[in-house]
Amino acid sequence: MKALVYRGPGQKALEDRPRPELADAGDAIVRVTRTTICGTDLHILKGDVTTCAPGRVLGHEGVGVVEAVGSGVSAFRPGDRVLISCITSCGRCDYCRRGMYSHCATGGWILGNKIDGTQAEYVRVPHADTSLYPLPAGADEEALVMLSDILPTGFECGVLNGKVQPGGTVAIVGAGPIGLAALLTAQFYSPAEIVMIDLDDNRLEVATRFGATRTLNSGRADVLDEVRKLTHGRGVDTAIEAVGVPATFLLCQDLVAPGGVIANVGVHGTKVDLHLETLWSRNIAITTRLVDTATTPMLLKVVSSGKIDPARLITHRFALADILEAYDTFGRAAETGALKVIIET
Ligand SMILES: NC(=O)c1ccc[n+]([C@@H]2O[C@H](COP(=O)([O-])OP(=O)(O)OC[C@H]3O[C@@H](n4cnc5c(N)ncnc54)[C@H](O)[C@@H]3O)[C@@H](O)[C@H]2O)c1
Ligand SMILES: [Zn+2]
Ligand SMILES: [Zn+2]
Repeated sequence: MKALVYRGPGQKALEDRPRPELADAGDAIVRVTRTTICGTDLHILKGDVTTCAPGRVLGHEGVGVVEAVGSGVSAFRPGDRVLISCITSCGRCDYCRRGMYSHCATGGWILGNKIDGTQAEYVRVPHADTSLYPLPAGADEEALVMLSDILPTGFECGVLNGKVQPGGTVAIVGAGPIGLAALLTAQFYSPAEIVMIDLDDNRLEVATRFGATRTLNSGRADVLDEVRKLTHGRGVDTAIEAVGVPATFLLCQDLVAPGGVIANVGVHGTKVDLHLETLWSRNIAITTRLVDTATTPMLLKVVSSGKIDPARLITHRFALADILEAYDTFGRAAETGALKVIIET
């Protein structure tokens, strides 16, 4: 089968690989029909993710059809159409019992990281009963690819951790796919203001279409001043960091109002200062989270009922044979306008 393989920092190749086989009673083999590329795949290619060894098939998102199941799998049968979660969970360990699937003792984020992933014709999914989800009848497969990772990430790490409230004020720093997913799902709670902040005017324009009440280009505007004006000098109740660089986490510390929450989503590669000399008295909270995908069943219902349409994040489509071109397009998002690219296998 064809698969996109990480070959070490800066190197990747589309290769012929043997089809994966069942290795454990809880496994399923899934024929991938649609997958996509995540910002985190670009982090891996930069060499930022040390758990991912050269030779690994990348990809942790996708939908497909069950091809085979191990003897211990009872929830799925060959032929079932499924959503593949970016997080694998056994459902039984301490962390899984607490809903923290991202820290599952024998799972977590392993696909396309510690084991071969979804940017291939077939993938082996461990703990299939608790790591796959049946696709609702008549569902838009491409829209559901957004539920493998980005929608639960924006919602759980940004909106839920950030305690977005009706009438509240929200700033989302970073209008990439994750920031936009937070924007879409923040609206479940009817906040009064959602300010979207980025350096890319094209992405800010998308944010306006997706429901941002205000957009600010932090390369041009005095963001702090504008947000203070908008919030009667207070700052925002929820500041969501969806970039992963020091400047944006520092900005969130300036933007948060007394009693507010800074919800960090970004993957940080370097240390960031924490200004306790100004924050100690402001009753704020700071949260971090690796997406658990605990809200995937709920998001599946919301998307299949048409309440939100994450297919609006899809900007490009490629065949698996052209996945190198897809990486190039996704990697030059500022020029190409790419948000999510669908790879059809
Ligand atoms: N916590 C988790 O479980 C989890 C899961 C998935 C992704 N992530 C992380 O979330 C972050 C966002 O992911 P994404 O795919 O949307 O990334 P992305 O790179 O597509 O988007 C980041 C956005 O930030 C903007 N930006 C960059 N520097 C900026 C600055 N100084 N000020 C304002 N905006 C700036 C860019 O223009 C871009 O639009 C990444 O760090 C990613 O690794 C975290
Ligand atoms: Zn991802
Ligand atoms: Zn577990």
